[in-house]
Amino acid sequence: MTFTDNTKPLTTAAGAPVVDNQNSMTAGARGPVLLQDLWLIEKIAHFDREVIPERRMHAKGAGAFGTFRVTHDISHFTRAALFGAVGNECAMFARFSTVAGERGAADAERDIRGFAVRFYTEEGNWDVVGNNTPVFFHRDPLKFPDLNRAVKRDPRTNLRNPENNWGYWTNLPEALHQVTIVMSDRGIPRSYRHMHGFGSHTFSLINAAGERHWVKFHFRTRQGIQNLTDAEAAAVIAEDRESHGRDLFEAIERGEHPRWTLFVQIMPEADAATYRFHPFDLTKVWSKKDYPLIEVGEFELNRNPDNYFADVEQAAFTPANLVPGISVSPDRMLQGRLFSYGDAARYRVGVNHHQIPVNHPHAATGLNTYHRDGAMRVDGNQGGVPGVEPNNFGRWSEQPSYAEPGTGLGPVTADHFDFREDDDDYYTQTRDLFRLMTAEQQDALFFNTARAIRGARASTVERHIENCSLADPSYGEGVRKACEAVGAL
Ligand code: HEM
Repeated sequence: MTFTDNTKPLTTAAGAPVVDNQNSMTAGARGPVLLQDLWLIEKIAHFDREVIPERRMHAKGAGAFGTFRVTHDISHFTRAALFGAVGNECAMFARFSTVAGERGAADAERDIRGFAVRFYTEEGNWDVVGNNTPVFFHRDPLKFPDLNRAVKRDPRTNLRNPENNWGYWTNLPEALHQVTIVMSDRGIPRSYRHMHGFGSHTFSLINAAGERHWVKFHFRTRQGIQNLTDAEAAAVIAEDRESHGRDLFEAIERGEHPRWTLFVQIMPEADAATYRFHPFDLTKVWSKKDYPLIEVGEFELNRNPDNYFADVEQAAFTPANLVPGISVSPDRMLQGRLFSYGDAARYRVGVNHHQIPVNHPHAATGLNTYHRDGAMRVDGNQGGVPGVEPNNFGRWSEQPSYAEPGTGLGPVTADHFDFREDDDDYYTQTRDLFRLMTAEQQDALFFNTARAIRGARASTVERHIENCSLADPSYGEGVRKACEAVGAL
């Protein structure tokens, strides 16, 4: 990076030259500092306000800009302009993260990784705010604050607490699938470049004829999957707490631009009613035999941000950033997230966060909103445009041609329906996953689990073993032996 302007004077924020940036103004050489030292006051007052809240989850991350390209035609599934023709390209931004660690946490921890990608399309920003696993710990958004408290610090000791964590997980049998993945050999990626990404939820695609298909998004790494063992990760952290961020930054600086291929799984709308798994259950995957991967496109990350705070810390992703032709599903977790991210952005970055360049839909052919005012409105605030719709000026009206087909719900009652009464199969997919593992991978799973659960109550360890055994008796037995070997039981 080159620095220009080296010859210009140091100024205050108001543009006046700074006279002395080394010595405060004092009453006499040994006397007190004066309030009229305006530069001192400005410099310290700005410093006092430099920190914005960290993300509630996924606080530690790294990001980069890149390019997405459509390689295969899915325009029969979606009317999204981005997918209108093979060869279409758009600029994009990606942020990868760990989940539980705070802003200063070590990267190489056993944890899920966030995989958030933003496509700057001509119809607005489309965000896929996913993870490196296709499933999640639970399937109701009411549980998310509890998950946060389970994996973060104990209120009294401010330490991570295995009992808080595992006591919670083991009380939710539906968590076992995700727990098994996090405790497996894939639980610590070697770097952000060496992992897949998943939209995880079921979304919908809507085509020009108004037909809806359910869809899952998969981003498969072209760098290959690479992971760290617990011992390797400990050695990495001892030397480097920023191993993931450093790896991504340095690879891009070297011109090694990491790439991922986008695939979709497509389910006809009517199949959802009869599919053998709950199609909107985030603790489950769709079988690739039932709904094979269809290749769609690829992206590469090719530019590091010039300023981390400006672009990465201020990035505000939301699953609610959708474009015509790509939409939601009844997945309860997705529904909860549609609210949560915009809400978090307004708190963390401010109501006008859309104006920040990384969040701005700069590729949108028109950006015509009547939103006005609010803190830090710096884009002219729509000038003298009257902020009413409908209006008699023929200006900026709604676009019914983009309406989605209605979602048939039948006769419904609003209530707190227990998901478990709808689908209480917690173990089939975990069993399938466990049986796909080699003996060596199963062994890693047993011992990773044992080391992680050590410190939880014996009753919690027993409950986990019971849950594992319900998936496969040899899973439970393996975890028991490993727990005994490492002193977790
Ligand atoms: C970050 C809420 C589930 C992926 C966040 C943030 C919140 C949040 C408040 C911080 C956002 C910010 O300050 O900008 C929730 C809620 C969930 C949920 C309420 C469940 C109801 C999930 C799931 C995934 C996910 C299931 C992945 C499939 C992410 C990612 C980030 C994030 C990748 C970081 C985005 C970035 O890089 O800026 N989540 N989350 N979350 N969440 Fe979730």
